Amino acid sequence: MTQSPIDRPAQWDATTYHWVSDPHVAWGQPILDRLGLTGDETVIDAGCGTGRLTAQLLDRLPAGRVIAVDRDAAMLGTAEAELAPRFGERVRFVQADLLDLDAAVGGPADRVFSTATFHWVADHDRLFAALFRSLRPGGWLVAQCGGAGNIATVIGHAAAVAREPDLAPYLAGWPGPWHFSTDDEAAYRLATAGFTDIETALIDAPVTQPDRDAFAGFARSVVFGEHLARLPGDRLRDRFISGITERASHDDSPYTLDYRRLNIRARRPA
Ligand SMILES: C[S@@+](CC[C@H](N)C(=O)[O-])C[C@H]1O[C@@H](n2cnc3c(N)ncnc32)[C@H](O)[C@@H]1O
Repeated sequence: MTQSPIDRPAQWDATTYHWVSDPHVAWGQPILDRLGLTGDETVIDAGCGTGRLTAQLLDRLPAGRVIAVDRDAAMLGTAEAELAPRFGERVRFVQADLLDLDAAVGGPADRVFSTATFHWVADHDRLFAALFRSLRPGGWLVAQCGGAGNIATVIGHAAAVAREPDLAPYLAGWPGPWHFSTDDEAAYRLATAGFTDIETALIDAPVTQPDRDAFAGFARSVVFGEHLARLPGDRLRDRFISGITERASHDDSPYTLDYRRLNIRARRPA
């Protein structure tokens, strides 16, 4: 195996993500609704990405504030460029790992909101403990992320392509960067972190891309960034994405990403 350990996360292509993340924005709508805001709260957006949902969060907080947190400089920079001129001092941007969230934001919030992020964090016990410490007593965590079975078909295609001889030295056997939790596992870990009033649920949320190019672009910029970072050179990276795309073209529902989301709501006791 010539697979080399990657000690830093791959950088996101923030420009592309901003344009192709309509599914993420759609998934975020019920999560925003479930926050139960009155409009003057302080809310942490944990893994804000390029800030498309952060903007909608700020629209719901005319007398409140948002602390937008992400560890990726390009994603956070895009969010800041979009949101700072529009919302001024009501939004603050913090580059940090969510495992250090409480120390990074420097004071407890009324809510933690998060979408499409927790499955990128391997250690959910440490993650939930940090989220708990970031909330005031009585505050709510309301979140969504990839859950058990998320994009299983697409991951199967990737695993098959990764076994091909030129890619295998870098990818074969690597389980990928994600932690896709079941609803029961998440509930258990949230309770262990101290949360009460816990609700967790898995829902199917498939996304079908209109054609080969759209699927390939989405796979490259949204799904497989960490895989691509393990591959040396554009030729192997292109082979990996085109191999997955070719397989996806033969699925019963071609170019479909079989997303399954885990919805989470939990409260820090008052
Ligand atoms: C798929 S994007 C979601 C962005 C946004 N919430 C949305 O729904 O469009 C995932 C984001 O999580 C961030 N992220 C992943 N792991 C993180 C960590 N450990 N700490 C902070 N941010 C993290 C990434 O940098 C990326 O911006």
